Amino acid sequence: MPATTLEQLASLCKRRGFVFPSSEIYGGLQGVFDWGPLGVELKNNIIASWWRTNVYERDDMEGLDAAILMNRLTWRYSGHEETFNDPLVDCRDCKSRWRADHIKGRCPNCGSTNLTEPRPFNMMFKTAVGPVADADSFAYLRPETAQGIFVNFGNVLATTSRKLPFGIAQVGKAFRNEINPRNFLFRVREFEQMEIEYFVMPGTEDEWHQRWLEDRLAWWESIGIPRERIKIYDVPPGELAHYSKRTFDLMYDYPTLGYEEVEGIASRTDYDLGSHSRDQETLDLKARANPNRDSTARLTYYDPESKRHVVPFVIEPSAGVGRCFLAVLAEAYDEQMVKAPPSERTCAVTDALEAFLKSVGRNDKLAPETRDALIERGQAILAGLPETMPQIETLLALPGADQIEVGKKLRGQAQGPIDEYFRTVLHLKPHLAPIRVAVFPLKRNHEGLVAMARDLRTSIQTGSFFRTVYDDTGAIGKLYRRQDEIGTPYCVTVDFQSLEDDTVTVRDRDTMQQVRIPASEVRAYVGG
Ligand code: GAP
Repeated sequence: MPATTLEQLASLCKRRGFVFPSSEIYGGLQGVFDWGPLGVELKNNIIASWWRTNVYERDDMEGLDAAILMNRLTWRYSGHEETFNDPLVDCRDCKSRWRADHIKGRCPNCGSTNLTEPRPFNMMFKTAVGPVADADSFAYLRPETAQGIFVNFGNVLATTSRKLPFGIAQVGKAFRNEINPRNFLFRVREFEQMEIEYFVMPGTEDEWHQRWLEDRLAWWESIGIPRERIKIYDVPPGELAHYSKRTFDLMYDYPTLGYEEVEGIASRTDYDLGSHSRDQETLDLKARANPNRDSTARLTYYDPESKRHVVPFVIEPSAGVGRCFLAVLAEAYDEQMVKAPPSERTCAVTDALEAFLKSVGRNDKLAPETRDALIERGQAILAGLPETMPQIETLLALPGADQIEVGKKLRGQAQGPIDEYFRTVLHLKPHLAPIRVAVFPLKRNHEGLVAMARDLRTSIQTGSFFRTVYDDTGAIGKLYRRQDEIGTPYCVTVDFQSLEDDTVTVRDRDTMQQVRIPASEVRAYVGG
């Protein structure tokens, strides 16, 4: 079964070391996460794939890595100081704060409708640069990477021989003081963006906007998100950002959330280059740029054909790494029943789950929303047994479940059949998998098998751009399951026949089929 809730993904991420709450030992920090050993590999592979497709495989792109801290004037002229706001409301009864457009007039905490009028809240984080905190040292943490590209437009043009159209790509951190960070990685306060600013001749922007839409959809498909899982939202004029002439939002069908934005592709006109330029009155700008008396540059392009300086128009595909990571995980996630459990074991789990739900229903110490959430999830699992049995782990990790005594009995009844008859598998594209190859000796206390497996791991790893690991910490069946759960496409086993003829078995994650091949061919077989 594919992932049906965000909790399933969050639970896997925590259990297997993809993502941890930031500074967890001190109670965490809301809306901030750390990437664990497997998360950092998957995230880096997503970014590498994006960079390869958008920079290396095109001949019209350059890369950039601008600083997070920038002169404050950048944000004045970009329009962020004035307009990068979300509508904030206070609940007068319980004193909580909310984003007005997320709560439909009712406080999600206490249900009150006694709310203040919405007022603008600027989402940029503020800091001071240097030892004295005064007006001159004031700075923001960037809320988007895009402005680093715009202010460097002249530098890139002067140091490369680029002609229009061409683009600049950048991947980096962005910070937004979201009023209500929520939904795991979906809305956070510190995140990474993968952004392109693509500069075109004015008048050609609509054609390029369409081409970028197609190119971006093709990339999403290449990382395992089929086109039919993405809806294109043509943002209506009333909802467009201040810089945009037209924007296509790519909406992925996330578990729990439904269709939500994973990438925006905006047509930004000449607004940004114009707003960061001096002598705007000489530039024939089409956008209503912010009047600028501080810039030292005219961010223009000399068009050899018309022999005129023009301010290019911009197409901007901008995707969040975290939202992409979640979409990739959701799409790859699968809980498979390898073999049906015997009916008496399913019956025992059914009884234990029913007892758990009854106990939840009777427990008046639980908040009503917590109780409802447990009952709703539990009943969905009950209706789908035995296929839904692995979701009991996620159910028992939900808030409030630890207060139900019979939860322990449920865990005890379910754990055995889950381990024996099910597997969780991530069908990740091999180029994204945190680990591409895992090598095991059939027996961990056999010197010859261990030595051959370790040597093989080193020979596959050396000089390759993916990760290969050695593992001997369990029986082979258990090792396969562990690698399935983190998406390792190939498991290689060194057995007694290997010692005689130098062959090994390679097991395919998705089909669970094994082939026997010479050890010397494994690297080519796994795409190294
Ligand atoms: N430069 C344009 C720009 O920043 P955006 O729509 O505000 O546009 C682009 O952000 C992408 O960044 C979004 O599509 C989303 O994937 C990601 N993103 C934005 N805010 C985010 C947040 N608070 N948490 C996680 N990702 C976020």
